[in-house]
Amino acid sequence: MALRLPKQDYQDIERVIEFDFVRATEAAALNSLRWLGRGDKEAADAAACDAMRGMFDLMNICGEVVIGEGMKDEAPGIFKGEQLGTWVPGSPEFHIAIDPIDGTTNISKGAPNSISCIAAASPEEGVKVALRDVPSFYMSKLAYGPRVIEYMKRRGDSLHLEMPIPEMLAIVARAVDKRVQDVAVMMLDRPRHKEMVEQIRAAGASLRMIGDGDIAAAIAPSLPDSDVDLYMGIGGSPEAVLAAAGIKCLGGDMQCKMWPRDEKERQKLSAEGYKKDLDHLYSADDLANGQNIIFCATGISDSALLPGVRARGGVTAVTHSLLMRAKSKTVRFIRARHNLQNKTIRLRSDNREHLI
Ligand code: FBP
Repeated sequence: MALRLPKQDYQDIERVIEFDFVRATEAAALNSLRWLGRGDKEAADAAACDAMRGMFDLMNICGEVVIGEGMKDEAPGIFKGEQLGTWVPGSPEFHIAIDPIDGTTNISKGAPNSISCIAAASPEEGVKVALRDVPSFYMSKLAYGPRVIEYMKRRGDSLHLEMPIPEMLAIVARAVDKRVQDVAVMMLDRPRHKEMVEQIRAAGASLRMIGDGDIAAAIAPSLPDSDVDLYMGIGGSPEAVLAAAGIKCLGGDMQCKMWPRDEKERQKLSAEGYKKDLDHLYSADDLANGQNIIFCATGISDSALLPGVRARGGVTAVTHSLLMRAKSKTVRFIRARHNLQNKTIRLRSDNREHLI
């Protein structure tokens, strides 16, 4: 009789299961694609969620959503507290932060910059909260890549979220070996950024404004080949945590602070016991803590992070995904060609496989 290996220990479970997570973001991207440019962001989101849940139904994990879609969405979504996976007793546990589509408005307009993404963390000694559920609606964010970090270590210069913008841009320019006028700063196009925009332009740097989708935007400066040097501005808090997980895997960093929208939200946060945290500066490691973290994303429409899905006449669809782990720091770009005559996606809504 053949000898069997003793039961696997799950020391490095992320390594075994990580590809299933990327299947979930691929499925969400493929299933939402038919809503591109059709003016119905809720339908796109529902399609992405249905496919993600369907894929999780095939995964033997005990997954708990600890960060769901942004509180701004009253749309169909995957929210905090939902259980994902089969929950077969003894299956590995994961805390999950999920955004089936970051940039739903972009999809409805057929505009660039939408991705599907997941961060997941398995239990780790010494890590109390791996993926932090920040209670404010928005955070003020600054994100930069490994070159900036190396430069800061070497030269003792340091960036700070609240430092004057011209000084910040001068440090980044030196770190990435560019002139300030060649430094590219990505930011959400929002009226609340008016002053920042004026200061960036006055300093001579070059802006890359996006309509929606600041997870891809915040991770972009950490990618070696992206043209973005810095991400700055105020965006959703759940998106900050997902971005932090990705940035961490790429060796970049992030500085974030809660940004209450008004006095009412500030007071509410204080009353709920977050008064001290309002002034706390969160790093990527504070938001996504520990080493047992997986991050994956699939492009839906083109972004600074990933190309979108390329559909070829109902025959094939090509997806582009990024899959990484904090522990190994392996960064996988996965280009998958799906044969649409054969490829099926399992949807939770009817528990069946569907052609796309
Ligand atoms: P949705 O895809 O959930 O609509 O989020 C898109 C997004 O642009 C995020 O990427 C960003 O963090 C947040 O919305 C910004 O919020 P707001 O649109 O209120 O400025």
